[in-house]
Amino acid sequence: MEQFDFRRMSFYQIWIRSFADGNGDGIGDLYGVYDKLDYIASLGVDGIWFSPIYPSPNADYGYDISDYRNIHPDYGTLDEFRKVLDRAHALGLRVIMDLVINHTSDEHPWFLESRKSRTGPYSDYYIWRDPKWKGESRLPPNNWFSQFEGLAWEYCPEREQYYLHVFAKKQPDLNMDNPRVREEVKGIMRFWLDMGVDGFREDVITYISKHPQLPDGIPFLPIINGQPYYKDGPNLVDYLREFRAVAKEYGALQIGEAPMTPVKTALTYLTGEDRVLDMMIQFDTMGADCFMTEYLHHPFFLPKLKHAFSKWQYALAGKAWNALYLENHDHPRVISRYGSEEFRRESGTMLAAAYIFQQGTPFIYQGQELGMTNIRLGSIEEYEDVATKNAYHSFRRRQTEEKRLRHVHLASRDSARTPVQWNSSPNAGFSDVKPWFSVNPNYPEVNAEKEEADPQSVLHFYRRCLRLRKGSDTLLWGDYREYFPQHPHLYVYERSCGTERILVVCSFSKKEQSWKLPKGYAWEGCTLLLCNYAEEPVPERLRPYEARVLRWGGT
Ligand code: NOJ
Ligand code: CA
Repeated sequence: MEQFDFRRMSFYQIWIRSFADGNGDGIGDLYGVYDKLDYIASLGVDGIWFSPIYPSPNADYGYDISDYRNIHPDYGTLDEFRKVLDRAHALGLRVIMDLVINHTSDEHPWFLESRKSRTGPYSDYYIWRDPKWKGESRLPPNNWFSQFEGLAWEYCPEREQYYLHVFAKKQPDLNMDNPRVREEVKGIMRFWLDMGVDGFREDVITYISKHPQLPDGIPFLPIINGQPYYKDGPNLVDYLREFRAVAKEYGALQIGEAPMTPVKTALTYLTGEDRVLDMMIQFDTMGADCFMTEYLHHPFFLPKLKHAFSKWQYALAGKAWNALYLENHDHPRVISRYGSEEFRRESGTMLAAAYIFQQGTPFIYQGQELGMTNIRLGSIEEYEDVATKNAYHSFRRRQTEEKRLRHVHLASRDSARTPVQWNSSPNAGFSDVKPWFSVNPNYPEVNAEKEEADPQSVLHFYRRCLRLRKGSDTLLWGDYREYFPQHPHLYVYERSCGTERILVVCSFSKKEQSWKLPKGYAWEGCTLLLCNYAEEPVPERLRPYEARVLRWGGT
């Protein structure tokens, strides 16, 4: 079946547990989603990506799946999902699901069977290896660390073997080299596609083919020392091609999450008619204030962010299509990272312009459009996320509690997982009862109702950006070019098509900045398409976090 044109689209991501509670138990659910579908459509997006909504013991909040063909009872039923799907489609919204097939939950029936013995139909569904012995001591098969919880191996006395888990202990990695496992994946895809969903966001899909020997990793690189041997592995493209064949039958969209995959490798997945993925979630743009993980923080450095933006823009130009994002459920809130809480409205709107007008399909994460910011909880016990707890216990163990918590405040993905702030009533209007997780105490000031009432709000600005992008061939298809790449405070990029040139000017500074048009530009004939301040701009002065979209030529 022919594929729909995902390049014109933009997506809204729902992490359901914190989106909206529709049945009054303090947990977000499909009833809440149903009620908010009109709101989502009102943003001007064209699709929804659901982070996992399947049954899960929640060791990693949905990314540890125990049944691929059902809905978590906390979130509703398959019937309720069908209702949401139909209504979304009626509103012109496509729906894509999270396909998490690098690993399952350890409570998935496949794993419960697999762990029983070395023979049997499921024995080879996971990555099992014998221990290494050093004298009498039993050691794991290699030195890999998991990304979420200690070593990457867990011993299973029934089999007298270890199983691999690149993430948490309760997330055993599937053995994708087993053709039966790949058939299972295709069956899962068909199940949802037959129901009418429009595609998948594929979780850590670049991890599914492991190096056959599972060699030791670099000993002193914690957390990701095994990554060279499980990322972009030898059979990855072959396996993706198998899944692609299924997606193609339905014209379904495939977006692959690809931590640390370099752009050159990305092109091998994303290019041409026989591409195995339509878009990729790269990680470079998440690293402008840290080294590899947010827990290794450094001050925000704009040239690093611009370098990441432009690297992907230039490399994919004319060959592949970008997925654009600044937030998702795995990263702290972008205003708190790359903007300023003090200038929340200004920086929240500027950041929207900084990425939405690039070439690619923008993704907006729930609450981002409301200008939500990081939460700062008082103790590690108040956090929920397994990765947050792990990082707290692995990094800076000799530092004071205060310093360790400060890093959690900067880095935790739980900041993106606080309940969405709908209004200023108790629990931010997310639920009638105490929510499953802390609400950010700033909800009386930061909430959807207030944002709706203020024409200059972050929310309205997102709407304007999406409308402008969709109505402009230059913004959709035009060439990208960056100016002043070394400038410490300004991000200036151009989109051009035929005689039209659009310049997006973003100040990342708390102070006023003077600036000049790039060479080859003159103020004459310039039209202001969009600005995040209500008052007329002064041409060569930018106010704190000002964003302007300027046009020359065209019709
Ligand atoms: C990436 C997901 O986005 C993240 O939330 C999850 O913890 C890991 N993959 C493991 O599934
Ligand atoms: Ca609920």
